[in-house]
Amino acid sequence: MGEQIIPLVDARQRALATPTPLQALPAPGTLRDTRGRPLRDLRISVTDRCNFRCTYCMPKEVFGSDYQYLPQAALLSFEEITRLARLFIGLGVHKLRLTGGEPLLRKGIEGLIEQLSALRTLDGQPLDITLTTNGSLLARKAKALKAAGLKRVTVSLDSLQDEVFRRMNDVDFPVAEVLAGIEAARAAGLAPIKVNMVVKRGTNEHEILPMARHFRGSGIALRFIEYMDVGATNRWRMDEVLPSSELLKRLQAEFALLPLAHSAVGETAERWGYAGADGRHDPALGEIGLISSVTRAFCGDCNRARLSTEGQVYLCLFAGAGYDLRALLRGGASDEQIAGAIAAIWQGRSDRYSELRASLPPDAQAGGRRIEMSYIGG
Ligand code: GTP
Ligand code: 5AD
Ligand code: SF4
Ligand code: SF4
Repeated sequence: MGEQIIPLVDARQRALATPTPLQALPAPGTLRDTRGRPLRDLRISVTDRCNFRCTYCMPKEVFGSDYQYLPQAALLSFEEITRLARLFIGLGVHKLRLTGGEPLLRKGIEGLIEQLSALRTLDGQPLDITLTTNGSLLARKAKALKAAGLKRVTVSLDSLQDEVFRRMNDVDFPVAEVLAGIEAARAAGLAPIKVNMVVKRGTNEHEILPMARHFRGSGIALRFIEYMDVGATNRWRMDEVLPSSELLKRLQAEFALLPLAHSAVGETAERWGYAGADGRHDPALGEIGLISSVTRAFCGDCNRARLSTEGQVYLCLFAGAGYDLRALLRGGASDEQIAGAIAAIWQGRSDRYSELRASLPPDAQAGGRRIEMSYIGG
């Protein structure tokens, strides 16, 4: 069989027209989209580069040595990011997540965290500042990240077996170094730590129980993520998705698990706690999370906005284009104008891709014109 050629859909070039800024901003905390959802969570991508080539995210045949990453001048500076974050916070955001690509590859990221950690929510509270990382540079950087004001980290790890993990990260990266990164994060006090495992049927499903055993009782919450049809390059197929309901059954064959309440509105994960000998949730044994974007969409209270490395705001992980805030920043717009534009963009939001997925035509489901996860972050 010949190599299939995957056209790279480069959604980076396209920007939607920024709506006219609202004349009067909504009262603090009252901004809502067309489905009544507030804006609470801002995910900031700080680089489109990564040192891994996870097959479900940056397949080598697309992200090869000749792939053109964004030029330095296109990236938002730390000052620009901080200014936008401040304006988003003024509209209700109280959680910031730094993502990539691999965010720890961005030079001087600690400096950005320092600036962001000086910001306060509308009611004067410190922000929840976290970061999603593949863990490869964490052992080296954990202390400095903590000192800069980072509160916690989420580390991606898909297997405890080198052979499986290497097949998934596709750059021969060993498990032990990620585990060392997690330990360094723990030692630095970057807690609570979460571990994200993307589960692909037929690839790492046999690692579900070993991963659960490893992290049970460790103080680290392991979250199982259904393999998603994000982007346009990973050749996603429904038959490689292991539904969370099936995954839960496999876990329950070995462990007693109890459903836990959501810890925040709009949370992506359904939480399950390990039961102790008395049949009640034992916090010392900890919990797992199920992130079921494919089989149980959670768009209903999705309060996440995403800011790309070059300053476009995306309203959904599955959006095909974003709104260009960098043009406003670099065109000399005032804080009021930029905040007014963000508010207008959010007010017009109706995205709920995961809820609609099943009813979309097949070509829109997989491979439609969509942004890559490595560009917009998790
Ligand atoms: P915390 O609970 O604060 O740690 O954040 P979170 O649960 O939002 O965590 P995280 O960013 O680690 O998200 C976990 C995974 O869920 C991501 O890697 C994505 O695979 C998926 N995910 C996150 N946000 C969305 C979303 O808005 N839509 C969809 N479909 N998937 C999402
Ligand atoms: N499906 C599900 N999760 C994904 N991630 C990246 N691509 C996908 C996908 N196709 C996850 C990574 C990491 C976070 C950044 O997003 O595993 O945890
Ligand atoms: Fe890199 Fe994370 Fe994408 Fe893997 S999932 S290629 S570690 S950005
Ligand atoms: Fe939010 Fe889009 Fe994900 Fe739905 S699919 S939860 S709207 S980001």
